[in-house]
Amino acid sequence: MTDDLCVTARGVSKIYPGTLALHKVDFNVYRGKVNVVIGENGAGKSTLMKILAGIEQPSEGAICLNGEEIHLKGTRDASERGIGIIHQELNLFPNLTVAQNIFMGRENTQYGVILDHKKHIEKTKMLLERLEHPIHPDTPVSDLRVGQQQIVEIAKTMAQQDLHVLIMDEPTSSLSTAEVEVLFRLIEELRGQGISIIYISHRLEEIMRIGDYVTVLRDGKLVGEEKVKNIDIPWIVRSMVGHSDTKMNYKQEKPIGDEILRVESLTLPRRGGGYTLDHISFSLRAGEILGIYGLLGSGRTELIECIMGMHPESTIDMYLEGKKIKPTSIWEQIQKGFAHIPEDRQREGLVQTLSIARNMTLASLWNYTKGIHLLHKKEDDSITKTIKDLEIKVADKNLPILSLSGGNQQKVVISKGILTSPKVLLLDEPTRGIDVGAKADVFKIVNKFAAQGMGIILVASELKEIIAIADRIIILSNGQATGELSGDEITEESLVKASGKGHTSGKLENIS
Ligand SMILES: Nc1ncnc2c1ncn2[C@@H]1O[C@H](COP(=O)(O)OP(=O)(O)OP(=O)(O)O)[C@@H](O)[C@H]1O
Ligand SMILES: [Mg+2]
Repeated sequence: MTDDLCVTARGVSKIYPGTLALHKVDFNVYRGKVNVVIGENGAGKSTLMKILAGIEQPSEGAICLNGEEIHLKGTRDASERGIGIIHQELNLFPNLTVAQNIFMGRENTQYGVILDHKKHIEKTKMLLERLEHPIHPDTPVSDLRVGQQQIVEIAKTMAQQDLHVLIMDEPTSSLSTAEVEVLFRLIEELRGQGISIIYISHRLEEIMRIGDYVTVLRDGKLVGEEKVKNIDIPWIVRSMVGHSDTKMNYKQEKPIGDEILRVESLTLPRRGGGYTLDHISFSLRAGEILGIYGLLGSGRTELIECIMGMHPESTIDMYLEGKKIKPTSIWEQIQKGFAHIPEDRQREGLVQTLSIARNMTLASLWNYTKGIHLLHKKEDDSITKTIKDLEIKVADKNLPILSLSGGNQQKVVISKGILTSPKVLLLDEPTRGIDVGAKADVFKIVNKFAAQGMGIILVASELKEIIAIADRIIILSNGQATGELSGDEITEESLVKASGKGHTSGKLENIS
């Protein structure tokens, strides 16, 4: 028996200035199945999803829903037909609360006019409990970490009534193992209810586990469609990038030098009592890649932010090359030799109104000045070289940063940090949304810098990835260091075990 089609795209093209993002693409969405879309960064995945969700209009071609051609005029139009989307770039309003975001545009009324706040709070609680992530509904979104925002995005789409098609554009890019499991259970449940799911991810194992069908895009064109049960990971890599080198071990022999950074008794008090980070101490040597692993809310991002001087309420004894320093602000820390690649590329990593090129050299402009003059040629050469090294897919480096695909924006965030040539590089989820081929490029560069004597601290939520690159890993759980592993001790099992220690879940907590 062949599966029933729910949505189809026929001969869909999308032209942006300077880019043919999609070229005559046919795409099938099977009813009650998980339909995976894969392709390198910039292949056209998000563009196709935006067309199916009514956000963008196709330049040519047709979209059919249940066999009937539809013309979606906007997201509301799509949502009325039961199509919901979880965006790759988080789309929440930072100044509003979780509940306000979830019910934005579909507010419940009481007696016809009054917004039913109580109802929103109750429903929000229910949705978040279903996602096993009890964030308080009144928490402002600006207090949430990227991973938590991702959960709120998911809840927001789940709040939509009569959902038939659910598009998930990299829903797990900031989630770690335990949180991915919860989402997968939810996906299975939705699939069981006959909801058609479109799932995009660069995490290949996820695709093999959750997918029923897979469609491959390359350079805006359809490469093919297969049933997941007929393929394997080498097939995915081959059809995405043209070769099937799937070994994930980025470790390189490199000299490890003297201690470059020492952190003693790093403490960040939590508002309302307790600690977000509870007396954490560690040292980092030149050339070493130190991984930090932990679940959402473990304090992994805050640890990096405290080193960068972003939390004035923290206390920390810190020594850089043996000299005591006080982290008071980001700019001071950058000048002392720290570079920070933040997890939230939209809010902290990029200036959205600037061009690709300007964003890249924003933190290192002093390298390209002589007196009051900007050394354009030197700056240009650095930018061109970095675009090539990281294979950033740009039509023109002077275009706005928002014209890049998600993964390519992330590569610009990485360039911005490494162009400052720091002594200590702090990477928070550097490969978020980066495709399998480009991950190897990013880690090659990280290794190159380590080999030159830079000290590197890396937060990564994908288990396999942190294992493949880190020399040593500190595990955080609930703000405490619950383990430290190096060499052969680093296994998936030992990491999962240590990251669950002392973890309290199921309790409604205010994140802030
Ligand atoms: N608003 C825009 N203006 C100009 N070009 C754009 C715009 N949006 C996307 N593009 C271009 O269209 C192409 C496809 O981008 P898209 O975001 O669909 O890629 P993707 O497959 O989702 O990649 P990723 O895995 O990095 O998210 C890219 O070359 C991108 O630069
Ligand atoms: Mg995308």
